[in-house]
Amino acid sequence: MTRKIFVTTALPYANGSFHIGHIMEYIQADIWVRFQRMQGHELHFVGADDAHGAPIMLKAEAEGITPEQLVARIGAERKQYLDGFHIAFDNWHSTHSPENTELSQDIYRQLKAAGLIYTKSIEQFYDPVKQMFLADRYIKGECPKCGAKDQYGDACEVCGSVYAPTDLKNPYSTLTGATPVMKSSEHYFFKLSDERCRDFLKKWLDEAGHLQPQVANKAREWLTGEGDKALGDWDISRDAPYFGIPIPDAPGKYFYVWLDAPVGYLASFKNYCAKKGIDFDAFLADPSTEQIHFIGKDIIYFHTLFWPAMLHFAQKKTPNQINVHGFITVSGEKMSKSRGTGIDPLRYLEVGMNPEWLRYYIAAKLNASVEDIDFNPDDFMARVNSDLIGKYVNIASRSAKFVTEKFGGKLAEVKPIQWLGGLPSRADLISRIAEQYDSREFGKAIRDSMQFADKVNQYVDVVKPWAMAKAGDNDDRLHELCSEFLDYFRVLTVLLAPVLPQVRDKVEKFLNCSLRTFDDALQPLPAGHQISAYTHLMTRVEEKQLDALLDIEKEPAKVTNSTPHPATPAKSGVTPPSQPSPVKGEGVSSGADTPTISIDDFSKIDLRIAKIVNAEHVEGADKLLRLTLDVGALGTKQVFAGIKSAYDPATLVGRLTVMVANLAPRKMKFGMSEGMVLAASGEAPGLFILSPDAGAQPGMKVK
Ligand code: MSP
Ligand code: ZN
Repeated sequence: MTRKIFVTTALPYANGSFHIGHIMEYIQADIWVRFQRMQGHELHFVGADDAHGAPIMLKAEAEGITPEQLVARIGAERKQYLDGFHIAFDNWHSTHSPENTELSQDIYRQLKAAGLIYTKSIEQFYDPVKQMFLADRYIKGECPKCGAKDQYGDACEVCGSVYAPTDLKNPYSTLTGATPVMKSSEHYFFKLSDERCRDFLKKWLDEAGHLQPQVANKAREWLTGEGDKALGDWDISRDAPYFGIPIPDAPGKYFYVWLDAPVGYLASFKNYCAKKGIDFDAFLADPSTEQIHFIGKDIIYFHTLFWPAMLHFAQKKTPNQINVHGFITVSGEKMSKSRGTGIDPLRYLEVGMNPEWLRYYIAAKLNASVEDIDFNPDDFMARVNSDLIGKYVNIASRSAKFVTEKFGGKLAEVKPIQWLGGLPSRADLISRIAEQYDSREFGKAIRDSMQFADKVNQYVDVVKPWAMAKAGDNDDRLHELCSEFLDYFRVLTVLLAPVLPQVRDKVEKFLNCSLRTFDDALQPLPAGHQISAYTHLMTRVEEKQLDALLDIEKEPAKVTNSTPHPATPAKSGVTPPSQPSPVKGEGVSSGADTPTISIDDFSKIDLRIAKIVNAEHVEGADKLLRLTLDVGALGTKQVFAGIKSAYDPATLVGRLTVMVANLAPRKMKFGMSEGMVLAASGEAPGLFILSPDAGAQPGMKVK
């Protein structure tokens, strides 16, 4: 039976580039999607940018552009990542779109008609300078328990106590530094505590197949919590200024970003349907349609409580399955979105690494649970090289040349009888692995495929085709055996195709056959089938590529975090990522090697006044100082500067200087460098950092 499936991944915030966590989520979903398509199911796979909310509004403001411009810029970046990792979304859209406005407002009206919306006046911190209400993350102050300074409004990082933002002593707005005042305003609420909601959610959570057991348990805990753990109503409105969708008949009120964000799933699909001539309403109204979301473990709450309830009481289809994955860490370290640690996916591609290595590695580590997975560089290299090159590709490279050289590229008949002892039948193997993909047990699918590859290689080792070819006394048998090995290779190619679609495409050309469905692997190719000459399918991972990826390099020579990457393999033919070159120390050298730039080029550089709040030596570094810079509204940044020879750190603390604030963060041996300070140097020794005139404040733009 052909399934009708609608699949999404979580919609990434449009205030930053993709990181490895996003790519991991897309790879997981993409493998599942490709697998279902190989089963012949009708499937639509869509994503979108999550464009709304205060952080995006404020970030755009800090950059001096409109939120629309920011969202458009980030949106334009997405394709290179998605194409780069072979992620086959059918559509990519935005929550800042006419479809989403219409759908969100429509859902709201339905909820209102169902009696599930009410308003209530609430008191909240308000920044009188910025003239906006402050979400908790924009308020800091002194811990009410231990008095530690600069603590956020929810918990103290020093003593660990938990409190409300209103408990902070001497609170201040992190946006302006102003003392916030309490101000009341009317908010709109979704009545999640309504008996109808609770009854519906209880049923929905209990229905088999919607959620992984541990996720359902968590959601049930939230639903049935009592006392101060009780599930409250949901505040769905925000006051202007806010970048969001206006609430109908409520001037100055916008939907809280988490209300319209999941509606973006439908908006993207609707936008796609219009382009493809699919009847959006009919597709979703069909009870046999499956609506499936892939998300990370941090956003379970929104997807298992609010989202199904919103849909249900707006008379819409509710999700059939929410598949939750854990987080990816890099060498055991959590990555932080704000500091940009982890592996930069674009850099991965830029240093010439094969996207299918990462797809394979992630697939091998994933299962249907919510466990975190770790990207470990050594493990990555060992795994890819030993499995993909040493086991899988090896089968083809060891048998193809005999078929081409001795038998004119024509296959002999493969007799099922020769199927290796100790292995399941071909049909069993294929259906078992299909079952594993379907249930997202990708690690098992990979393991079973590789076990099979091991057996085949053992068989090849025993038979020694190269020795048979040399002896030349049993060419018919050699022909049959090599045809059989290539047949197994073909089966493996199909089994791995959801993970390695590009290799599959190459093998289709090599074996001159279609490998688009799992059924394609059920029968061997017929005797006499003509294949093409074997061409290289995949190279090994090299250590120097990983070094380049992780930026394991010598410390930079100059006052910068952006010297070119000596570890970048020259022969990959890839230029190092485009980062501005460091301030050159050429002194008076004329403009001959310095091309003229336009004012637009110049304004791409976000120069800011920064206060050096801390400066210290870096253990093991000859040239670097670690600077902590206060950049006003942009927060605190850590920068490694090669100025150790010229400055005693103690003399720097408290000084103002100028930094490049929008330089891509860079992972260095000693930690992240999040920008660069400017300094002058010439032929003569000496390094001189810049200082602004008196009156300049941290965070001010230099232009
Ligand atoms: N905008 C919301 C989602 C709205 S969905 C209607 C959001 N965006 S996000 O950019 O922060 O995260 C997008 C997805 O990436 C989420 O599913 C999140 O769990 C996932 N990941 C973020 N960091 C991750 C890892 N380190 N590892 C794996 N996935 C992680 O949340
Ligand atoms: Zn404290």
